[in-house]
Amino acid sequence: MKIGIIFGTRPEAIKMAPLYKKLIENNIDTKIISTGQHKEMLDQVLNVFEIIPDYNLNIMKKGQSLCELTSRLLNELDKILKKERFDLILVHGDTSTTMTASLAGFYNKIPIGHVEAGLRTKDIYDPYPEELNRRITSNIANYHFAPTELAKQNLIKENIPEKNIIITGNTVIDSIKWIKENKSENIKMIQNNLNLKKQKYILMTMHRRENWGTPIENVMKAVKKYTSEKNIKVIFPIHLNPIVRENVKKIIKNDTNIILTEPLEYLEFISLMDGCHYIMTDSGGIQEEAQYLKKTILILRKTTERPEAIKNGTAILVGTEEDKVYNAMKELEKNMYKNIIKDKNPFGDGFASEKIVDFILKSK
Ligand code: UD1
Ligand code: UDP
Repeated sequence: MKIGIIFGTRPEAIKMAPLYKKLIENNIDTKIISTGQHKEMLDQVLNVFEIIPDYNLNIMKKGQSLCELTSRLLNELDKILKKERFDLILVHGDTSTTMTASLAGFYNKIPIGHVEAGLRTKDIYDPYPEELNRRITSNIANYHFAPTELAKQNLIKENIPEKNIIITGNTVIDSIKWIKENKSENIKMIQNNLNLKKQKYILMTMHRRENWGTPIENVMKAVKKYTSEKNIKVIFPIHLNPIVRENVKKIIKNDTNIILTEPLEYLEFISLMDGCHYIMTDSGGIQEEAQYLKKTILILRKTTERPEAIKNGTAILVGTEEDKVYNAMKELEKNMYKNIIKDKNPFGDGFASEKIVDFILKSK
């Protein structure tokens, strides 16, 4: 059996790395095709997991549009799929790489396994274009590896046959567990070097397309106001997307309590998450990791496809209006420890990759 794992962005690589390692451990012939939808941000992940892709399609162009990205991805992936003749392709989540890899697989009549299947907000423009990407992928995929029961139910409602849906937990929990277990010394070193234990700080990220412009600017205004009143720092590693950087830097100039950095290596980012007071983000993966690290999250979005974290008492859907964000920060200052953090992580137990590989081996 020959498997092709296709990914292209930072979060896909983080979430597919443990699955790749598990497939190799089980002597399954597996190749990685990186589309290179991301470049520097992808390298930062591959280094930590010591993964060298078999192919790198080097797709990324600065400021790429969705249409040009999609057409380049389809054309380049088709060439590899014709050459390699995989028995199964594994894709992850909801990016342009995910959707086009599924489509290219379908055109080449190769079965698709979709990891992190079944997440839904039901609003096609939120997150944009991810909600449509994952719906298209669900329509094409043969096997659906759902992280939670809710994700499975979403798929059943869309008439996906139940026998093809396997609840596995999210592979990101495998990743963060691996990092915490194997790199704890590095984490301590990073925290010591940055003097993190001695200061209280909030960690922040924001990059989603539907938040470009006014929403990011509003959130930055709230953060600026709050940190200028309180003696607390916000650390914000900014995504390399030029639009995001422009939006942030329009509001944040010389604010001493707001530390803007380049995107961090995965290990560094985990070290910062591990030591922070709480997290503000519109990222998907960070919400799941935060649950493992028992950190509270302010979700800077209108909708969420991960209501499990809200139900568990660790995440608050705050939106992007300036007043709401500012008030939520103030509220958290008082009520932080009232948040219930249950021991059972709704996003998984760290054995998602094992469950996926078991399924693949059984259905060989
Ligand atoms: C993509 C995904 C999104 C995911 C996010 C994770 C799509 C449509 N979007 O959004 O679902 O949440 O990745 O981060 O698939 N850039 C660099 N270097 C990098 C990475 C990006 O310079 O290593 C810059 C480039 O100018 C690039 C731009 O960011 O054109 C946008 O990258 P793109 O992958 O199109 O979109 P993201 O916003 O990163
Ligand atoms: N991350 C990282 N460095 C950073 C910011 C985030 O390694 O500077 C990691 C983070 O731990 C998480 C993933 O990147 O696993 C999330 O990626 P992103 O927010 O770009 O995408 P999303 O999850 O929203 O699709």
